Amino acid sequence: MEPILSVEGLTKRFNQDKSSVLAVDNISFQLFSGDCLGIVGESSCGKSTTVNLITRLKDVDSGKIILNGIDITSAKGKSLHSVYQKMQMVFQFPQDSFNPHQKLNDAIIEPLINNGMSKREAKKQLPYLLDLVGLDLSLINNKYSYELSGGQCQRVAIARAIAIKPKILICDEATSALDVISQKQIVDLLKKLQKQFNLSIILITHDLSLVRQICNRVIVMYRGKIVEENSTNEILQNPQQEYTKLLIQSTV
Ligand SMILES: Nc1ncnc2c1ncn2[C@@H]1O[C@H](COP(=O)(O)OP(=O)(O)OP(=O)(O)O)[C@@H](O)[C@H]1O
Ligand SMILES: [Mg+2]
Repeated sequence: MEPILSVEGLTKRFNQDKSSVLAVDNISFQLFSGDCLGIVGESSCGKSTTVNLITRLKDVDSGKIILNGIDITSAKGKSLHSVYQKMQMVFQFPQDSFNPHQKLNDAIIEPLINNGMSKREAKKQLPYLLDLVGLDLSLINNKYSYELSGGQCQRVAIARAIAIKPKILICDEATSALDVISQKQIVDLLKKLQKQFNLSIILITHDLSLVRQICNRVIVMYRGKIVEENSTNEILQNPQQEYTKLLIQSTV
């Protein structure tokens, strides 16, 4: 089976004042259709940088990113358009996904309009898209992101991300800023959408219980490197690396 996303030897160094940090150090992995891949590891180990490179929010120093068989390592401008048709991202702080001056109605349908749909047609999709994430149009109608709760806003961010039916959804700590009940609801929503649209998900998290609930495979990162990769069961029940054992112990 061909991977939907393949990352080969990805490397990124940042210069900070007089020193520099190797945020992502020669990492390679593959994501297959229908996978939910967890990326775990302590703060600063390079998780967000990895997905920021994959989604082309940052330029790589070296390595390759292959999306659906196409090399997108240096994709810019118009070719980024087709990248974002296939790959969408949901961030830690739901409000970050929205322009505070843009009404949520318009924000959700923006990707559809960018994709060539008329505004009228796109608007017709709103009730359906909101229904997918368990919200009613009356809740968001003519509102701005700051008028919603974090959990509601994250649902709207997910509705926006899946509006154009991407193949891959990347969630960077998408539930970390929420209370436990809202976290559980978002996880259940992601599971439902994954099945419904055969989405492949990359889930970045500190939370191993989240990984247990939703991921079928896990990558453990430490200081920019992948130190262990396996099925979720193997990682949680039979960790090979000392660092993974520590990570599991520290979360029980
Ligand atoms: N734009 C930047 N400029 C300079 N250094 C950066 C930049 N972005 C990230 N870094 C550094 O790269 C390293 C990896 O950061 P990254 O944000 O990828 O970690 P993370 O695993 O996502 O951490 P967290 O769990 O806290 O979100 C850190 O040392 C960080 O300080
Ligand atoms: Mg991060």
